[in-house]
Amino acid sequence: MTAPAEPILEVRDLVKHFPLTQGIVVKRQVGAIKAVDGVSLDLHRGETLGVVGESGCGKSTLAKLLMALEQPTSGSVRIKGKDITKTRGAELKRMRRNIQMVMQDPYTSLNPRMTVGDIVGEPFEIHKDVVPKGGRRRKVQELLDVVGLNPDHINRYPHQFSGGQRQRIGIARGLALQPEIIICDEPVSALDVSIQAQVMNLLERLQSEFNLAYIFIAHDLSVVRHISDRVAVMYLGKIVELGRDADIYERPTHPYTQALLSAVPVPNPEGREQRERIILQGDPPSPANPPSGCRFRTRCWKAQDICAEQVPLLQIREGSSHPSACHFAEVNDAVGTH
Ligand SMILES: Nc1ncnc2c1ncn2[C@@H]1O[C@H](COP(=O)(O)OP(=O)(O)OP(=O)(O)O)[C@@H](O)[C@H]1O
Ligand code: SF4
Ligand SMILES: [Mg+2]
Repeated sequence: MTAPAEPILEVRDLVKHFPLTQGIVVKRQVGAIKAVDGVSLDLHRGETLGVVGESGCGKSTLAKLLMALEQPTSGSVRIKGKDITKTRGAELKRMRRNIQMVMQDPYTSLNPRMTVGDIVGEPFEIHKDVVPKGGRRRKVQELLDVVGLNPDHINRYPHQFSGGQRQRIGIARGLALQPEIIICDEPVSALDVSIQAQVMNLLERLQSEFNLAYIFIAHDLSVVRHISDRVAVMYLGKIVELGRDADIYERPTHPYTQALLSAVPVPNPEGREQRERIILQGDPPSPANPPSGCRFRTRCWKAQDICAEQVPLLQIREGSSHPSACHFAEVNDAVGTH
């Protein structure tokens, strides 16, 4: 897909540090959890940007910052040119209509005491100035139909639906206000593999039908492969590599991306033999105390002295077509050839 020049979402140097406090009566700040630490990215109309990284690397915090559900420590999030982090009151409410979220867990993200009709119609309750044509009930039934649910089930409760159906309810709710941007925070990871493909297909169909832009968050590179136009790989609050689908899956240059890809099962048995497997050792360090220089250096097999001394910037290096935050970024023939 060719992306138009003007991004619908522009994120610049976004930082979120959660204070670490000590003391019961008098709280002292003793440090900070650097959940998101200098993220910049663009999202274009109708495009899908995959965001991938291990648990705790800051994906959900990033999602909340984009929706102004958290205030950043610094940085900006511009939606159609306007910075949502500096917007308040009625104007913020209006901007929020345009950016909606589909959550990870369809079991806990829906209120069990509300009917499906109330859940999907709730955005109209919050945004009373948006009055759907033909009335709210008709609009909700239309939305249920759009996501492949029976419109006659409008009075049922969430427990009367399967996991995949509940995720469809969450998606219908996200579509209610006709947003241009949807943040999908691991929308399929709680679902059975057989259901995952159905929900992914639905999201793709809705994207082309409504020209939606997606930020699609996942743990695993294989989940976002099919749906993403571009992919950002995150490690401990930073984007370490960002590129088009082919850059990331066929020519990754950051050792962390290479390690993640190495862990992805290869469908072709010949490919499996050709590839050395890179096994990531240990867990990521704490975001309260990230390593100096390159944050990946404590797990990187290529680390040199400079990696502890200098933070590698996310930039395009010689011989590569896309940005990578590694002093020694290079294509490794052992990975990404499938
Ligand atoms: N409200 C908060 N207060 C303090 N720390 C927080 C808060 N929210 C998140 N964190 C911390 O920030 C870091 C990033 O968390 P986040 O939920 O963004 O990660 P994630 O990439 O979404 O992980 P997962 O894949 O497990 O969902 C973690 O160390 C987490 O403990
Ligand atoms: S900068 Fe150094 S430690 Fe970091 S990924 Fe590159 S080689 Fe590894
Ligand atoms: Mg998360």
